[in-house]
Amino acid sequence: RDVTVVDHPMVQHKLTIMRDKATSTASFRRLLREIAALLTYEATRDLELTTTTIETPLATMEAPTLAGKKLVFASILRAGNGLLEGMLDLVPAARVAHVGLYRDPETLQPVEYYFKAPEDLHERVVIAVDPMLATANSAIAAIRGLKERGAKDIRFVCLLAAPEGVERFRAAHPDVPVVTAAIDSHLNDHGYILPGLGDAGDRMYG
Ligand code: PRP
Repeated sequence: RDVTVVDHPMVQHKLTIMRDKATSTASFRRLLREIAALLTYEATRDLELTTTTIETPLATMEAPTLAGKKLVFASILRAGNGLLEGMLDLVPAARVAHVGLYRDPETLQPVEYYFKAPEDLHERVVIAVDPMLATANSAIAAIRGLKERGAKDIRFVCLLAAPEGVERFRAAHPDVPVVTAAIDSHLNDHGYILPGLGDAGDRMYG
């Protein structure tokens, strides 16, 4: 469960349309939102349940309900916001952290420009999101920032990962499970995932 590739047919079908360069910005955005809900479904599979007593129209029952810790979704800007929308469709009450990072095109190192997270990160389940895990520099820095602010129970959700990125991420944060829709072939010299889908931020926002 350290690295989960969500091979569900609905996810794989939507991802293929997203990869296609002929797919419009509007479709790309809608598909990312739809896939996000499906990835979140997988990333929250192990959340703890408790029971609560309810009255159905016919009887009293002990019914399952989520226990304890509330969720925080941590969006790695900009592209993380595309996934965030779909996650909030599934969990409308989740809190949100925004982590502003961009990747310097020369060095491929992440540059932080914004970081705003709820105060009580230490008592929540944090799901960090970014569509792409390429070199993993951005995700590693974002998770480091979340840990520095108290987060303990963290997962990472992305749409596409490079094998190099998965390996580096796991080495840096072995305690953080990864959920992705696919692990592609490799990174090119510019740090782009191949075959990939291009730059998710650019395809969503221009
Ligand atoms: C892209 C992508 C990830 C990062 C992945 O963001 O959305 O955040 O690169 O690369 P890495 O794993 O090698 O760090 P970009 O810097 O293009 O910013 P944007 O989301 O604002 O477009």
